[in-house]
Order: sequence, then structure tokens, then C-alpha cells
Amino acid sequence: MGLRRMDFLLRRAREKQIAIGAFECWDNLNILGIARAAAETGLPVIFQATPAEYEPMGGAGALADMVRFYVRKFDITAALHLDHGGTLEQVADCVRSGFTSVMLDASGCEFEENVRLSAAAAEIAHAGNLSFEAELGHVIGGDGGDGAESALTVPSEVAEFVRRTSVDCLAVSIGTVHGDYKGEPRLRLDLLREIASLVDIPLVLHGGSGTPVDQLHAAIRLGIAKINICTDIHKAFIAGIQEAIAGLTPSVPGKFYRPAVARMTAKTIEMIRLFADDPRLANA
Ligand code: 13P
Repeated sequence: MGLRRMDFLLRRAREKQIAIGAFECWDNLNILGIARAAAETGLPVIFQATPAEYEPMGGAGALADMVRFYVRKFDITAALHLDHGGTLEQVADCVRSGFTSVMLDASGCEFEENVRLSAAAAEIAHAGNLSFEAELGHVIGGDGGDGAESALTVPSEVAEFVRRTSVDCLAVSIGTVHGDYKGEPRLRLDLLREIASLVDIPLVLHGGSGTPVDQLHAAIRLGIAKINICTDIHKAFIAGIQEAIAGLTPSVPGKFYRPAVARMTAKTIEMIRLFADDPRLANA
């Protein structure tokens, strides 16, 4: 129980051919929902946030304090991860703030620049005894709106990238998108099989929301050990807010967010169970 290095949890997951859900954090109520879901399932969970998500909460330190509080309160096993870090300063800030894992996302850069930045971030993370995630290939937003082209991971680059960066877990681009899919989701499982045969570190799937369950399960069996989820739990949270607005009683503010937390917790439980249908990870 408690906060662990993320790669420790993920290596065990990959050995067992299951995956751990990594859920986006944007406020204390949604952190509470994720913690409740982890407690309810008895399974490990990853709390993660991008700088754009934790800055409005008061910064990386505020997020870390909140997560630590709920991890202790619910006596759960978890990791706290920087998702899509953009600069080495942000990586260092999260190391100082007590995260247990960081990502620097240089996947929009050319290969050599991605290697250079990822290796530098890995050095900072490892000096602080944290694990490090990088992305090779580039997963775009579902609306195509992150300014970059989607690029699938090139298998011939994988082993060299892992060796030169000392990355602990690798995010791959195999057909998922961040946010809603525009068309029919179709993961390139052939590509994933090839990548997984080249390296034995845990592989990470960004853009998990809206991906058909059978494709997720196939990806997990092939080596995906972490699945990032934002849109699905955010939609559940918003649906709860809409429910609360419909029956709004301004004199009782404490009740307002209950449907949002309840719906989001239920969705998170569903996904944790889907990714890890193996209760043996409960005591990781
Ligand atoms: P979704 O919003 O598609 O679940 O993606 C989340 C994600 O990959 C965060 O890094």
C-alpha cells in the first residue's frame, strides 16, 4: 500500500499480462473518485496530470499533497505520474514535489531530438529515484487539434530509443487518439506485437477512452501495461454535474458534486476491472 514507483507496478502488470488504469486528475473531487475506485476494486491505480491540469489546482506540489492524502486515507497502492510533461523544468518540479514517475513528451520532435530530451529527462527522474515514460511515434488528439500529425511508432527505432534514453516505460502510437475517435477505432495489433517482441519494458497506451474492449484486451495480452484514460471519466463527471444542476439547491453546496463523483467513481471502477481482471495484483 502507498505510493510506488510506477515502473514497479507496470513491470508486474506486464508479467501478468494485465494493465493498470492511469486516470487524469483535475481537482480534489475527481482524485477522491479515483481513490474510491481503487479502494473498491482492491487494485493499484495511477493518478496522473499534465501541467495544464495541475496548474489550476495550485501546482504540482498541491496535486501531490492531495494524492498522498487520499492514498493514505483509503490505504491503496498507487503511483503519481506527470503526464505529457513539456519541459525539463516541469520534470524537475514534479521530482521535487514527490511524484513517483514522470513523462517528458517530445514525440512531436524528430527522432534524435526526442532521444536527446528523453535521455535528459530520464537522468533527472532517475536521480530522484522516479521512473520515466517517453513516447515514440505520436498520438494525436481525436479532433486532430494538437498541431501535429499522427505518426505510428516505427519498430526499427524502438530498441535504439529504449537503449539510448534508459526509458522505463514506453508509450507507443498504434492507432489510438486522445479524446473522441473521429472514425472507427482500429488498433494496429500487428505493430504492437512487433514492438513488444523488441523490448521487455512495459508499454503504454495513450488515448484509451472509446477504444473497443476486445481491442484493449488484445493489446494488454501483447504487452500494454498502462492505459491512459481522461475523456471517459471526464464525461461521467460532467454528466453528474448536469444531473446536479437539474436539481440544484443552492443552499446545500456540499451535495452539488455528489452525482459527479459517484458517476466518475463508477466509471473508474469499471475501467480498472476491465484492464486488470486479475485480483492477484491486489497486494502489489
Ligand atoms: P483519452 O482522453 O482518450 O482517454 O486519453 C487520455 C490520455 O491519453 C492522457 O494522456
